[in-house]
Amino acid sequence: MPKINRYEDISQIDREAKKDFIDRHSPFVHCETEAKAGETFTVKVKVGNEYTHPDDMDHHISGIALYNKDTKLAEATMLAGALGGQGKKGNATVTFEVVLEKNAEIVAQSYCTKHGVWESDPVSVSVA
Ligand SMILES: [Fe+2]
Repeated sequence: MPKINRYEDISQIDREAKKDFIDRHSPFVHCETEAKAGETFTVKVKVGNEYTHPDDMDHHISGIALYNKDTKLAEATMLAGALGGQGKKGNATVTFEVVLEKNAEIVAQSYCTKHGVWESDPVSVSVA
């Protein structure tokens, strides 16, 4: 079982190198906080906010998974080269379309082939 790293508020961190490390691995969930039951709901997940992550053969973001509480809703697999390949950097981004039936707590996890699993802050979505 891999260790799960959680996002830390980078404004509270003094060292720039650590801010970079945390930010570029953390998935950020972008979605509305209200949804209609039974209708398509769009959730965009972007890994890294202010910093980009390498896209090297031996070091890249290889997947993003989307959860509602304990239930996995969807996942996307990415291969090295999707963001330009060796020597390039980028923000792995996936847009998921899901259907929610009741209030949800959306969490995303990303996986770095060198630095493990990273989890977003949860986003509460009220569903009516
Ligand atoms: Fe990494």
